[in-house]
Order: sequence, then structure tokens, then C-alpha cells
Amino acid sequence: MESWATSGGDLHLDLSAGRARGLGLRAALEDALRTAARDGRFAPGTRLPSSRALSGDLGLARNTVAEAYAQLAAEGWLTARQGSGTVVAERGTPAAVTAPLAYPSRPVARYDLTSGRPDVSLFPRSAWLAAARRALTVAPHEALSYSDPRGRIELRRALAEYLARVRGVRTDPERILICAGYTQGLRLVCGALGAQGVRSVAVEEYGLPPQQRVIAAAGLSTVALPLDGDGARTDLLAGTGAGAVVLTSAHQFPTGVALRAARRSAAVAWARETGGLIIEDDYDGEFRYDRQPVGAMQALDPERVVYAGTTSKSLAPGLRLGWLVLPAALVEPAVRQKELADGQSGVLEQLTLAELITSGGLDRHVRRCRSHYRRRRDRLVAALAERAPQVEVAGLAAGLHAVLRLPPGSLGEDELLRQADWLGLALHTMSFCRADSAPPLPDAPPALVIGYGTPPERDFAGALDALCTLVRL
Ligand SMILES: Cc1ncc(COP(=O)(O)O)c(C=O)c1O
Repeated sequence: MESWATSGGDLHLDLSAGRARGLGLRAALEDALRTAARDGRFAPGTRLPSSRALSGDLGLARNTVAEAYAQLAAEGWLTARQGSGTVVAERGTPAAVTAPLAYPSRPVARYDLTSGRPDVSLFPRSAWLAAARRALTVAPHEALSYSDPRGRIELRRALAEYLARVRGVRTDPERILICAGYTQGLRLVCGALGAQGVRSVAVEEYGLPPQQRVIAAAGLSTVALPLDGDGARTDLLAGTGAGAVVLTSAHQFPTGVALRAARRSAAVAWARETGGLIIEDDYDGEFRYDRQPVGAMQALDPERVVYAGTTSKSLAPGLRLGWLVLPAALVEPAVRQKELADGQSGVLEQLTLAELITSGGLDRHVRRCRSHYRRRRDRLVAALAERAPQVEVAGLAAGLHAVLRLPPGSLGEDELLRQADWLGLALHTMSFCRADSAPPLPDAPPALVIGYGTPPERDFAGALDALCTLVRL
């Protein structure tokens, strides 16, 4: 259902305008609420229905409504009052700074088990400082001026060698574009695709929530691709009408499965037949604990697959450093997008990373992190086996997160979030990661996405205790 009126009939929300502009469900709901508050149709002080009631009426996931309310509250249109629900703010003046695209702000929790982040206390400060000193000492003056929008050649050369060696990527420095993390990389590719007439991008039915807004910001719509135990149903791509697909092939986020060989081939066959593009998000490809990671699917067809990598898991998200390995035909269009976005990425970090890679410092750091996260995962699995054996830890022994599937009869995800709050625990639910364009799953069993890599070491035991308490409630 795209529009809704309260039982009193005096609040009317129309999602169809946003949907017609290609917005996902949450973005369309935010748009409808914002428009109603700005136009004065919802007078200051108007009380909005609870997220549960509105989600029921609109046929949306409750998290979708709660996140839309949170976004509008962050922008200053709504006020959330303890005990009296959400009301339209007294003055409908948006905050000067719009809320970030990243995960919605959360109350400060004692223990952070949200996914998507590494343990930043592991950042190799001394090695980074030493690499920065060496890099700046030898950098030519011209390096500090405007330079190639693709990024410094030192880093592109180092990455071409590193990615071939570690992830099996087939490339040369000419096809590499350095960008501000995967987020900007995706935005650049979508911008380039939009300029070529692509209108819609297929995404996995569960994925990185902000990704959909990045795609929408480039004017493209998203269509959800179902997932099963073999990964994304790439055999269904032909029916989606999409011009591109985003795949987390080595380690699906968040379900944790690897895309089976047959599904990889099906995606490549679809891309070849239709002129489609595969965007491979290799966000945590360095972290596999049970065996060698599956290589990048880019190697199957470098002219049909964009390989996107990032330092956000292996080093730190705050670096904002990532890369695209592009098909030859997409280099120029993506470079044009980069020039429009910010000209080029910062040079000092690029030169430092190049030095860290060529000196072997990154390999040493990744090895150290791998054993740290493997131990973390083992501790999580052991604690649950002992204290909550009814909980299934799903997904590969890889990455920095795991999905916990709770048995039938457990608390629902919304209630789990409320209880987690009481326990001082921040985490994400599975429905938080559900694509806006995917149909709601009202009967899905509760599941949690646990970022076991996130807390610093001193907090991990306490975080596990709180988690075990939560899943036994
Ligand atoms: C699935 C997925 N892709 C990519 C990223 C990295 O994004 P970025 O490089 O913009 O920090 C993350 C980080 O949370 C992620 O979970």
C-alpha cells in the first residue's frame, strides 16, 4: 500500500510521489513525512502514530518506519518524546546539517556489537606513521599539487600487485580509481551508469542499508534479488530489468554465504548477454578463517565486473580510502564522475598506503587482524554453544560479523532491540539490513547481525555476556 490515512482520517501520507521518483520505501516515507511537515499539512504538535501502527497500516517493516522517524527527528521535523510518542516539531526548521548516510545514530551503548566496523584499536599506528614519514620524504613536489583524478600512480601500482596476489584480481594501474571508500566508489559507478541510460540496479535482498540511498542519490532505483544458501539468485537477474547488480560475492553481507560458482557464472552470462554490469563489493575479502578465501569474481570477466575494495575493514573506516578496478569502457565515465565529486582523493593517505603495501606492512597487519578476529569469532561461537545452544550461528567463518538465528518462540526483533538497550548493548537486527525494495517478511524468524569485530578487547567479554543474556530472554 502506498498511501495511508489514520482512523480519524486527518493524516494522509502519500508514498507514491517518492516511489515514482525511484525512491526506496524508507526514502519515500521520509519524503512524504518531510513534505507534510514542511507544507504545514501536519501542524506542529501533531502526534504521529506509533511506528508499529504505521508499519502495520502501510505494510512496511517496523524498522523502516522507526528509521524514517529517526531521520526526520535528526533533521528537526519531528520530536520524539519519552512516553508520548513522536510529534511534529514546534518549528518545522530542519537542522543545518542533514543526517549522515551511514548507520542511523544510536544511543551511546556500553557495548557496541553493531556490524560494519573493525576493532579500530588495532589500527597500526606506528607502522602507519613510519610509512607516512617515508612516503612524504620521497614524494616529489608535484605530488602535492592537483594530479590524476584516478589517484597517485604509486598507490595504483601497489594495489594492482596486491589485489592480484591476494584476491586474484586481473588489472593494471590504468584501470584503478582511488576513491573515498566503497560508498563513493558505488556513487561514482552509479553516476556513470545513469549517464549511460541505466535506470535500475539489482541489490541483494539483505545488504548494507545506506547503499540503497547512495544508488537513489544517483537517480537510480533498486530492485531486490532473493538470496538462498548459495548466495544471490543471479539466475533471476534477467527478469529484473536491472542494468547492473551489486554482489557481495566472497562473503554475502549480512547472511555470510559465499556466492556459488554456478551463480557467479550465471551473473557473468547475464552481464555478457544484456550488456549489464556486476559491481563486486569485496568489503572483507581478506578475512576468511577456515581456508583460503574465494577469489574475486572480477577475474571471470574484467570487462563486465567492477571490483570495489576498501580499507574500512582492513585498516579503519575513518581513512575513507577505497578503490575501483574498472572495465576499460568505464574508466573515462567513472573518472568524469570523480572529477565532479571531489577532483581527486587526498594524496598523503594514498602515498602512505602505497608505502604500507610495498613494505609488507599491510600484509603483516592483516595477518595480525585475521587471528584476532578468528579468536573473537571462536569466543562468540563457544559462548553461545555453552550458554544459548538453541541459537544458530549462520554463515562462513569469515569477516567481522555473524548472523545469529533465534529459535521459534523467541522475542521478536523489535523487542530484542528494546531489551538490548536495557542491557547497554547496541546491535543490528536482520530486518534492519533488508532492502527497501524487498517484500516485507512478517513471519521471518528473529535474527541478529553481530559485529564481533567492533568492540575493543577490554569490552568483548562483557559484550558477550550481555549478548548471551539477551538471546536467552
Ligand atoms: C557490505 C559492506 N560493503 C562496504 C562497506 C564499506 O564501506 P566504505 O568503504 O564506504 O566504508 C561496508 C562497511 O560497513 C559493508 O558492510
